[in-house]
Amino acid sequence: HYLLPLPEGADKLPSNLAMALRDVEQQFDISTDKLKEITKQMLWEYSKGLSELPTDETRDTFVPMIPSYLQHVPHGNEKGTYLALDLGGTNLRVCEVELLGDSKWRMKQQKYKVSDALKVGEVTALFDYIAGSVDHFLTEIGTSATEDEKLHLGFTFSFPVLQTALAAGTLINWTKGFECKNAIGKDVVQLLQDALDRKHIHVRCSALVNDTCGTLMAAAYERGDCLCGGIFGTGTNGAYVESIDKLTKMGYQEAELEQNRKNGLDKMVVNTEWGAFDNERITLPFTIFDSRVDRISINPRKQAFEKMISGMYLGEVTRNVLLHLVDSQVLFKGYSSRALNAHYGLDTAIMSALESPSDKSAADASSAIRQVLTKELDLSASLIDEADCLAAARVSEIVGTRGCRLSATAIAATVIQTGGDAKEWDSSKKLVFGLDGSLVEFYPRFEQRVRDALREILGEEVEKRVEIVLAKDGSGVGAALCAQAAQAMEQKGAA
Ligand code: GLC
Repeated sequence: HYLLPLPEGADKLPSNLAMALRDVEQQFDISTDKLKEITKQMLWEYSKGLSELPTDETRDTFVPMIPSYLQHVPHGNEKGTYLALDLGGTNLRVCEVELLGDSKWRMKQQKYKVSDALKVGEVTALFDYIAGSVDHFLTEIGTSATEDEKLHLGFTFSFPVLQTALAAGTLINWTKGFECKNAIGKDVVQLLQDALDRKHIHVRCSALVNDTCGTLMAAAYERGDCLCGGIFGTGTNGAYVESIDKLTKMGYQEAELEQNRKNGLDKMVVNTEWGAFDNERITLPFTIFDSRVDRISINPRKQAFEKMISGMYLGEVTRNVLLHLVDSQVLFKGYSSRALNAHYGLDTAIMSALESPSDKSAADASSAIRQVLTKELDLSASLIDEADCLAAARVSEIVGTRGCRLSATAIAATVIQTGGDAKEWDSSKKLVFGLDGSLVEFYPRFEQRVRDALREILGEEVEKRVEIVLAKDGSGVGAALCAQAAQAMEQKGAA
């Protein structure tokens, strides 16, 4: 019921293809009850993660819920010029961010490609490359910062890090296809600082942030308030503002909590790492396609939730379903192509193209889809008739819709965790979710699909309290805001 009605001509689908599609649809279906069950399990993992430090035995049984040491969200009046580094999405980005106050900012940025070899090589090689990119940025693009300002760099490092201070944290494990050697357990700020120092670059890394925390900070700066920063891009994850007395694993004593309350330090941004939800496979509806994607990934049995939702994997799940239909002799006359056979050969961007073909000059939807199939997946045109086009787009929609519906369970869990579903509610108050990532930005009907599922889980009244804002490039601006916060704290300390 939550898939779009099939377009005209669908009644012409050969019956064996129609049957095979219905079977796929059933495997990827998530009922309202199932959505609610998943949300409940997510909340259970949240509460475990807030109260327990993981041990080797329990590590995969709940989400990490990492304290970020960020205790203020910006209001929009912050000012200053900072460098920001962003590693963990598709590219490495070096930025200079000018916070102008009044919720405004200006940014210069340069993207640098991280080769596959760097992603799996020695970690020092990766950080030397990063430092080299900072050097290149400073010499080629230049900076308008004063000598003093230039010193401060905020580092968005979008991997699970056990943060021990605003500018210190050790890598827990790699995700999203990275697998550098000799990195786990190392302090990431130290790795960066050493690499900068080796090149005599006069820059100091003063804050380490996850991209979700950065996104939250950036959205708060722009909006004056934000409850949660979420990424639905290469990977998926969220950070939200939690009250410090629920973060019992930090071991605060009652007197300290009282003191914190007095000083207005009773909240902390928590990086959930929800991509690691249900690694134990208790509730998520795994299909054989998911298991196949997982088995040949770089991190089997990890990031279970992420592998059903995010840009790095959605295309891969879709590719596996298409191959299943090919092998069942109901699609493309039973033939595949080199791209379709290749591991990660179907980029998630192709799903957007299949579901919302951009070629407006095409006579109709199926000829536009045929273009995508021949151009992007190098399938031979003679293999593709109208039914194949409809089916390929449908498979993409089925896989993508499941991803959006699962994304909603993480948002819903965060709403409930923070009391956003309370009966009494000031209707002028909104639950602001600042979201970023390629799916949010480019995947057709992303927000609508998420909202439909949110309504099923939370009911219409609560769903309406949720405001979703696109926090584009949030992690760069957020890193600058964290560097600003670090500098402000330092100056306060010195005063
Ligand atoms: C992965 C990382 C996480 C990051 C997310 C989005 O899940 O583990 O730290 O926030 O991707 O980039």
